[in-house]
Amino acid sequence: MVSATRILATDADSPDAAVIAQAAETLRAGGLVAFPTETVYGLGANALDARAVAGIFIAKGRPAGNPLIVHVANTQAARVLVADWPGAADLLAKQFWPGPLTLVMKKSALVPDIVTAGGPTVALRVPGHKLALAILDAAGVPVAAPSANRSAQLSPTRAEHVVRDLLGRVDVIVDAGPTAGGLESTVLDLTTTPPRLLRPGLVSPAEIEAIVGPIERRPVAALDKQPLRSPGLLERHYSPRTPIECLAGSGVPRVTELTHQGQRIGWLRLAATGDVVAGVTLVLMPDEPAAYAAMLYAVLHELDAAGLDRIIVELPPRTEPWLAIHDRLGRM
Ligand code: TXA
Ligand code: MG
Repeated sequence: MVSATRILATDADSPDAAVIAQAAETLRAGGLVAFPTETVYGLGANALDARAVAGIFIAKGRPAGNPLIVHVANTQAARVLVADWPGAADLLAKQFWPGPLTLVMKKSALVPDIVTAGGPTVALRVPGHKLALAILDAAGVPVAAPSANRSAQLSPTRAEHVVRDLLGRVDVIVDAGPTAGGLESTVLDLTTTPPRLLRPGLVSPAEIEAIVGPIERRPVAALDKQPLRSPGLLERHYSPRTPIECLAGSGVPRVTELTHQGQRIGWLRLAATGDVVAGVTLVLMPDEPAAYAAMLYAVLHELDAAGLDRIIVELPPRTEPWLAIHDRLGRM
């Protein structure tokens, strides 16, 4: 299929018009374009072109049963893709778009089945990223875009992460540096009453509830789990290639045990904590959720590239500001 990938570098805040034009033209022609958003890099195709969208599933090795988020330049462009636009969508779009909130609504006949995995609903968002918006605007079509990684792998927060996974499999990779948010958008289902949180993300349940009242919060598996998880038994997603263990409390005994076995360990600790074990690759993580989210995937990509035997993560506090981070760590 695709063989040569063009990598187009530009500035995120003052994007090059020629890069925008090439990305938009490629999308209109049915090609695959990886581009940054404020959350993670997405792998885009014209959402109205079923053949182009099929290319996303092939490039990522994504199971056909997993529907895609459709990105649009503004609320008006979202409305035509939806059969029934609820009042809550108006309020949430006004408050959070452009931004990291994805809304699931009943799809209109315009949306091809492949985008929604055959389902009756479509997920929509307006990304809060100047370059992404410029590409969407210039393309003039809605753009289906999952995270720009091979299926079940870590999402990319830098163009080099996309290159590692998808070089030769997509037409264009737009490189505009690291993404600011670092974690995927919040996904909220508006087809149920009350609305239901499907994936926690950078917009918190409390922020949503301040606008539309109580929502149903999906129980977050990671919050109930045993501290030591058995790799392989649970649904894996958002995963580094290196085996990873998330531990509540001090990882010192576990890290000491593993290093004595001769294992090469990467260790993510919260900045506030002190103990050190010699010979491990130690990464001090911020003890503030937004800063933690912004660097989590980049750190894991880096440790993956270092060829370690295992990554140990000290779990952050089990409080709501850390919800999205617990969700992702719980599924690695
Ligand atoms: O921040 C993000 O959301 C990034 C950037 C590129 O926008 N995209 C992203 O896409 O994370 P992806 O495909 O990796 O995750 C989309 C999530 C999946 O969990 C998918 O199952 C869910 O959204 N989803 C998509 N359409 C849906 C629908 N109609 N109903 C329920 N869930 C849906
Ligand atoms: Mg993804």
